[in-house]
Amino acid sequence: MMGNPKMQKEIWTILLLAAAVDVHIVASIYVSPYDLMKCSYGERGSLTATCINATAGYFKSTPYRFDQLDETLRCVNCSIKTMDTGTFDISGNQIKNLDLTSSQIELIKQKAFIGLIFLENLYLPHNKIRSIYPGTFTGVKKIKHIDLSYNQISILSDDGFLELLNLEKLNLEHSYIHTISPRAFNGLVHLKQLYLKSNLISEVKDAFSNLTSLEVLNLEDNQIVALNSTEFYNLTALLELNLANNKLKNLVIEFAPQSVLRNLFLQNNFIDIIASNFLKGLHTLESLDLSHNQISEVNRKTLQNLYNLHKLNISYNKLTKFQTGTFSGLPQMELLNCSHNSIEEVEITGVFSLHSLHALDLSYNKLSDLDYVGLISRLPRLSYLKLENNVLPCYLETEMDEYFAEDNFKYVLYDNSVGSMKCVDTPNKMSRPLIPDKFFEEKPVQTGASGTEITTFVLISIVAVCIAFLFYLQYRTYQQLKYSSSQRTTSVVNLLSTDLENRE
Ligand SMILES: *[C@@H]1O[C@H](CO)[C@@H](O)[C@H](O)[C@H]1NC(C)=O
Ligand SMILES: *[C@@H]1O[C@H](CO)[C@@H](O)[C@H](O)[C@H]1NC(C)=O
Ligand SMILES: *[C@@H]1O[C@H](CO)[C@@H](O)[C@H](O)[C@H]1NC(C)=O
Ligand SMILES: *[C@@H]1O[C@H](CO)[C@@H](O)[C@H](O)[C@H]1NC(C)=O
Repeated sequence: MMGNPKMQKEIWTILLLAAAVDVHIVASIYVSPYDLMKCSYGERGSLTATCINATAGYFKSTPYRFDQLDETLRCVNCSIKTMDTGTFDISGNQIKNLDLTSSQIELIKQKAFIGLIFLENLYLPHNKIRSIYPGTFTGVKKIKHIDLSYNQISILSDDGFLELLNLEKLNLEHSYIHTISPRAFNGLVHLKQLYLKSNLISEVKDAFSNLTSLEVLNLEDNQIVALNSTEFYNLTALLELNLANNKLKNLVIEFAPQSVLRNLFLQNNFIDIIASNFLKGLHTLESLDLSHNQISEVNRKTLQNLYNLHKLNISYNKLTKFQTGTFSGLPQMELLNCSHNSIEEVEITGVFSLHSLHALDLSYNKLSDLDYVGLISRLPRLSYLKLENNVLPCYLETEMDEYFAEDNFKYVLYDNSVGSMKCVDTPNKMSRPLIPDKFFEEKPVQTGASGTEITTFVLISIVAVCIAFLFYLQYRTYQQLKYSSSQRTTSVVNLLSTDLENRE
């Protein structure tokens, strides 16, 4: 039954082959890991040594001699896991840049970097580091830049970076950080840039209050719900603060009077009401992004201390009105973006113009009409007006083309993208003559002129009446004089006669 020799032979062949493959696998497993590890110098002039497949202990035992040509040590496919004290305590090294990207690091022990006395840039992204313990950076005072992004830090505990007196840039993005201890950044007196983007931070408290050299603080894409307003008060060197993509609602941010902040990003939050004390002390702010929020109204006083604001983006909100007065008193404002709201009307309010505004975006709103002449009269510098995707009447185009025929002024009434709104075909209202606004605009000038005419006329009449009266007075005096002189003659005659009579 099973005596088929041919089949038996085939089975044997398969078994033998399988065994051979097995032996091969076993052989490759038994190659010592040290045989695969290697440090070598790159191309001449690269000043880079590359270590392949290294484990934590290898850097000190490699036959490779690090010297002054190895400014950069780069690890490729390394498997470091636990970085012990003195892992890089390699005699004679002058390593300035240490790149341990994707090296499977989980734990860094105290003084792990000791011996790297020239180290300035430390790259540790894409590892599994869970904590930065106090003492981690003992002995590496020259470090200027650390990249710890894409790790699993979760809690930034007190004093982790204490020794890094020269650190200027710290990247902690994408590291699952949810808690920052109050003294986490203690000692970082020269820190200029701190990136905490894409973590799980919900509270910041006083964590930043001692970072008086900080210029850029990025807290974008976190879970911050509220601020108590003074978190950034002491950051008097801060130029840029990014709080975009958080969960902020009612916010008040206060800065010290000597603040130099230029850019503030608050887009993609849940801000609905902006209180009148919303931004305090931001006299130097140049750019404010409030787009993608829930703002339905901007109070008149809200923006009044932002003397230096150049750009305001309030697109993707819930505004229903655009009033020129809201934005007056901002002498530097150049770009105002109110697109993607629900603005139904543009009102000319207040008496001041927006002196510097040269671009106004009112596209993607619900405007059904536009007093462009009134608007332009308050925006003397306007050179770019975006109005596409509203429900504006079609005759507006002809009107505006005619009105601005001689001006180098760019306005966009519709775009040509598929499905976008062009205009609404309303018949040209009879109350609106073809060039109505020019007429209206000149009218006040005319009333002004006739007003002067009336005044002149009244004045002339008064003068005429006065002259007539004077003539009359003169005439009366003349008459009186004539009369009294004739009387005087008689009296003189009488006197003479009495005199004569007396003599007799
Ligand atoms: C690193 O490992 C990957 C896959 O594990 C391999 O493709 C690559 O060649 C390795 N690089 C070096 C320099 O050994
Ligand atoms: C700020 O620094 C001072 C001393 O310079 C220190 O006493 C204080 O505890 C620090 N505060 C924080 C929150 O780190
Ligand atoms: C700002 O710093 C001063 C001392 O430099 C400190 O007394 C004050 O509490 C700090 N303010 C905030 C809001 O952190
Ligand atoms: C206004 O904001 C919208 C949406 O963010 C953008 O597409 C548009 O280009 C901006 N307009 C101007 C004039 O910058």
